Amino acid sequence: MAIITEEEEDTKTLIPPKTKLKKSESSTKNPKPQSQNPFPFWFYFTLVVSLATIIFISLSLFSSHNDPRSWFLSLPPSLRQHYSNGRTIKVQINPNESPIEVFVAESGPIQSENVVIVHGLGLSSYAFKEIIQSIGSKGFHSVAMDLPGFGFSDKSIVVIGGDRDLGFVARVKEVYDLIQEKGVFWAFDHMIETGDLPYEEIMKLQNSKRRSLEAIELGSEETARVLSQVIDTLGLSPVHLVLHDSALGLASNWVSENSQTVRSITLIDSSVSPALPLWILNIPVIREVLLGFSFGFEKLVSFRCSKEMTLSQIEAHRILLKGRNGREAVVASLKKLNHSFDIAQWGNSDGINGIPMQVIWSRDGSKEWSDEGQRVAKALPKAKFVTHSGSRWPQESKSGELADYISDFVYQLPRSIRQVAEEPIPEKVQKVLDEAKPGGDHDHHHGHGHAHAGYTDAYGLGEEWTT
Ligand SMILES: *[C@@H]1O[C@H](CO)[C@@H](O)[C@H](O)[C@H]1NC(C)=O
Repeated sequence: MAIITEEEEDTKTLIPPKTKLKKSESSTKNPKPQSQNPFPFWFYFTLVVSLATIIFISLSLFSSHNDPRSWFLSLPPSLRQHYSNGRTIKVQINPNESPIEVFVAESGPIQSENVVIVHGLGLSSYAFKEIIQSIGSKGFHSVAMDLPGFGFSDKSIVVIGGDRDLGFVARVKEVYDLIQEKGVFWAFDHMIETGDLPYEEIMKLQNSKRRSLEAIELGSEETARVLSQVIDTLGLSPVHLVLHDSALGLASNWVSENSQTVRSITLIDSSVSPALPLWILNIPVIREVLLGFSFGFEKLVSFRCSKEMTLSQIEAHRILLKGRNGREAVVASLKKLNHSFDIAQWGNSDGINGIPMQVIWSRDGSKEWSDEGQRVAKALPKAKFVTHSGSRWPQESKSGELADYISDFVYQLPRSIRQVAEEPIPEKVQKVLDEAKPGGDHDHHHGHGHAHAGYTDAYGLGEEWTT
C-alpha cells in the first residue's frame, strides 16, 4: 500500500535501499546485473499487482452502493412505484452551482386549490403518499416534495476543482483511475527506470481539476429557493402549505417573505428539532448500525417517531435516508437548523398574522409531546388546534385522518382567487388573453371569472375548476 498512495515520507524510506543497491552494483561491476537481482523485480511486481487487486475490489464494493442506477434498481417495489408516480424538477439552490433535481409527487385535479406538503428532516414525500392521494381524491391538487438531501431529490452536488482535503478512499480512487488509464505496469516501469515512484504525476493529477461530490447543506435559504422554484415551475401559487415536523423551521422565513403566496398554513407535529434524533447519525459505528440494519433503525423510529409504522414502511424510510450518501446531507442539514426559532414571535409577526392556520397534533405520543402541543397552541392563539391518533411521523394507517383535517380546513376557506392580478401570467397565456380581448385592460378588476376561464382554456383544460 505504501508504494503509491502514501505521502513523501514513505517514498523516501523506499529510496535509500534502492540507491544503495545501485551503488553496490556499480562498485562490484558485475557483467550480468539482471540475473543478480530477481528479488526486487518479483517483490515490486507482486506488490503492484496485489495493490491493484485490493483497490479494485474495495472500489467495486464502494461504488456498488453509490451508483444511482444500481441503487434505484435495488429499491423495493413500493419505492419504485412512488418514484414513477412523481417527477423531478430542476432547482438552483445556490447561484454559483449547477441546478439540482428535486422530486415531487402530486395528485388531484391541477386547476384547483393547491396543497403543498413539506416533510420534516429524516422523512420524504414517501411518508405522505397516501395523504396526497386522499387529498387529491377530494378534489384538491396536492403536491409533496422531497427536500434536497432527502428521498429521491439530489443529496450531493458535483464540485469541480478545489483543493479540498480528500479522504483516503478518494485518494485511492484517483490513483486507481491513473493506473487504469496508464496500465497496471506503468508505475512499475517507472520505478524500474528511475528507481522512484511516479509521485509527481500522481500529485499533478490530484491537483488538477477534479470532480468531487459534496453533501448538500439544507438550511432555510436553500429551502426558500426550493419552495419558490417548485411553486413557480408547477404554477401552484397561491398554496395551502402543510409543514410537518422540522419543516416549520426550514420554511418559516420563506413564508414570512412570501405571505401573499400562502393561502393557509397547516402545521403537523411541528417543532424546531426533528422527531428523528439526527445527531445520532453523526456518531461513528452507531450510525453504521442504525442505517445499515433494519432492526436498529426500527428501534429508533418506534422509540421516537412512530409506534405503529409497518416494518416495510420503516425499511423504506431507512433506504431513502441512507441511499446515495444521504447521511452526510442529513447531518449537514441538522447543523443549519435555527434552534432559536420562536414560534410565537413568528406566528404573530405581521406577514403571518393574517394567514389562516391550523395545528394538527399527535395525541398518542409522550406527555412531553402533549405539553409541547399545548405550548404551540398557546403560541398561536388564532390557529385551529386539532389532534390526531397517529404518531409524530405519519403512519399509513392514519393517512386518512390527516388528509381529512387538511382537506376540511382547505374546504372551509373561501376559494382562492387565483392571483390573476398579482401573479404574472405565463407569457403565452397572456398573449392569448390579450388577443381575445383587444380593448379590455380592466379585466383584472372586473373579470376574474372571465379571465380565469380563458386561463384554463388556454391550457386546454376545458371547464374552469369547480367552486
Ligand atoms: C432564528 O429564529 C429567530 C426567532 O424566531 C429569528 O429571529 C431569526 O431570524 C432566525 N434566524 C434565521 C437565520 O433564520
